[in-house]
Amino acid sequence: MRSLNDREPIQPGDDAPDFAFAYGGATHRLFDFRGSPVVLAFHGAEWDPARAEHIETYNKLIASLGGVAGARLLQIGGAGPWRDLSFTDAALSLPVLAADSAVARQYGVGSEPAVFVIDAGGVVRWSQVGPMSLVSPTDVARAISVVAAPFVHEPTASTGEPNEAPSAGWTRRDFVATALAAAFALALRPVEAHAERAARLAAPASTVRPVTLTVNGRQLSLSLEPRVTLLDALREYAGLTGSKKGCDHGQCGACTVHIDGRRELSCLTFAVMQEGRRITTIEGLASGEQLHPMQQAFITNDGFQCGYCTSGQVMSAVAVLDEPWGPTDDDVREAMSGNICRCGAYPGIVAAVQEVRRAQATNGGGNRQ
Ligand code: FES
Ligand code: FES
Repeated sequence: MRSLNDREPIQPGDDAPDFAFAYGGATHRLFDFRGSPVVLAFHGAEWDPARAEHIETYNKLIASLGGVAGARLLQIGGAGPWRDLSFTDAALSLPVLAADSAVARQYGVGSEPAVFVIDAGGVVRWSQVGPMSLVSPTDVARAISVVAAPFVHEPTASTGEPNEAPSAGWTRRDFVATALAAAFALALRPVEAHAERAARLAAPASTVRPVTLTVNGRQLSLSLEPRVTLLDALREYAGLTGSKKGCDHGQCGACTVHIDGRRELSCLTFAVMQEGRRITTIEGLASGEQLHPMQQAFITNDGFQCGYCTSGQVMSAVAVLDEPWGPTDDDVREAMSGNICRCGAYPGIVAAVQEVRRAQATNGGGNRQ
């Protein structure tokens, strides 16, 4: 057994180092989970379980796994580095830790994602540190089997018989736990997919150059080939997927962003041309939890259905009110004609723009950005 102070990752067979964490107003310790398998996950710098696309992926994976009906990602929150992912089965917990935390160092984890599967006795049975290769069926199966192993043929206290589902040797709880281990492993896949996609898009090293973009008030340092569009730079390299790719040919408006306060089609401009300019995407429109008035007006007026065009519509709508268009509904339709909505949410969109126009007239103010 190695010292807890080792910086080498904790290995299968090691006791899982105990640690304390505060959550829900109480202090817990890992040892409190004895009796249940625990999947301890450290997310890498790029993986953010709060990101909608990751939540969606996670829930899809969990929902698609047999035997975990109803086990959904219910809550993400908590102070400090802890995010407690609670599931409907109260016996389970899937703690996720920031990879730069003191606990990560305790486990020998750096900035990379890592997963430790800890059995009910507190022993690490399986681990994966670094880029996730555990999407291979063999690795996932191994993760499942090692968590389930302590429960196979475990007699129940009341009957002395093997516990429920003796033919499989698993209780429902065991299966949920192991399925979650596999699901979490797979859920980390978007990080890899993102990196692979970026690598595919990347040009030969000789043509890549450093590009600094100012997006939503932040400086983003990217390495881009000159032909990368601003839309691809935002979505594929910066992880800002709010701007949508509808046509990629300047005909639908789904990719609309603001550059120096004016609306632009990000699919029609190269990222390298935008250095030194102020880029605002839909992610930068709200002020913290406070929606931009146009975002709120789209909600109030049912200005969207599937939502695919909505970020572009909102960005255009905000800009339109700073452009020299007339005030009528027909003027709004004309001004917004470059933004296509396949769902036909146009009446609500026009109503939203007009609502914000009236509010601005009443308040005597312009657009807030
Ligand atoms: Fe840019 Fe359609 S994706 S206009
Ligand atoms: Fe579906 Fe516009 S809301 S495309």
